[in-house]
Amino acid sequence: MIIYFAPMEGITDGVLRRVHHQLFGGIDVYCLPFHKLTQSLSLLTREKRDISPEENRGLRVLPQALTRDPGQLTAWLDYARACGCSCADLNLGCPSPTVTRRGRGSGMLRDLPALRAFLEQLFSNPLPIPLSVKTRIGYESPEEWPEILALLRDYPFAHTTIHIRTAREQYTGSIHPEAFDLALRQGLPHPVYNGDLRTPEDVLALTARCPGTEAVMIGRGLLADPALARRIRGGPKASPAELRAWYTALYEGWAERFQATIALGRIKKLMEWPGGNDIRRKRLLRQAGDIESCIEALLGNGQARETDPENNAPIGQKRSD
Ligand SMILES: Cc1cc2nc3c(=O)[nH]c(=O)nc-3n(C[C@H](O)[C@H](O)[C@H](O)COP(=O)(O)O)c2cc1C
Repeated sequence: MIIYFAPMEGITDGVLRRVHHQLFGGIDVYCLPFHKLTQSLSLLTREKRDISPEENRGLRVLPQALTRDPGQLTAWLDYARACGCSCADLNLGCPSPTVTRRGRGSGMLRDLPALRAFLEQLFSNPLPIPLSVKTRIGYESPEEWPEILALLRDYPFAHTTIHIRTAREQYTGSIHPEAFDLALRQGLPHPVYNGDLRTPEDVLALTARCPGTEAVMIGRGLLADPALARRIRGGPKASPAELRAWYTALYEGWAERFQATIALGRIKKLMEWPGGNDIRRKRLLRQAGDIESCIEALLGNGQARETDPENNAPIGQKRSD
């Protein structure tokens, strides 16, 4: 089973990828959040850093582009090759209105003749490196999937990641696993399943239903449980010491790049995934003013120091000054 760590913009940067690989492993390929391509192909500083060989030493990574211009994509693939990438990905899945309004991301699924014309032009010349694609199963409705699938099968993508929701469904609510079954039945080369895999049991259920599954991509499940890929491969759960090391190393890595408050904000956002809906924990996390208090809020098992938001002293004690 090949396991991809899903791209998540603003979260799965080089710091997270490196720390995850060092502490937990189990991932075959770390996917980079999308680069929004422009006419001048001038990438943002953070995008350049994200794809640079220094940022990804020792990791297999898959960068991703958001564009509807074949020339831009070819030039970017050349750049990705120069950065040492052996494959790169086209985003047909982003559901954000700011992206889809411009006919990019999942917006490309709304106009299949235009998507076909784009792919015809793109594949009319040899590409610098192989291209994969990440798609949703429709824009408005899962009924669009058979036609999208037939179109994608006509082009030589290295693999196809299928997030089994429509763009309208964003990231929550119903999923449509039968769309993945259809891709397998129709012999789409190298399909990658994506959507709502949270536990090793979810992956077992998937492979029991679809024995032909060769690869999965996991996003939020790995944010909630960074040891998930290791567990899928039969390894142990994350120990409290490992989780402490995970958050501490992430904080230190982010604090080297951003202001300390931004680094702490990122940690708090990340901790929302395993934190669930525990109101008390959420409150403690909101109040936490440093990394230690954040970790205590998340892992403290009720023994975390509870602070009074008014004076930031332990509850029941008033600050003397
Ligand atoms: C905050 C966030 C940012 C994301 N950024 C990207 C991205 O840059 N490129 C992409 O293809 N998908 C992106 N996704 C989608 C994920 O890669 C993945 O397809 C989605 O979370 C479903 O998988 P999961 O249920 O395992 O999380 C993002 C998702 C989230 C929640």
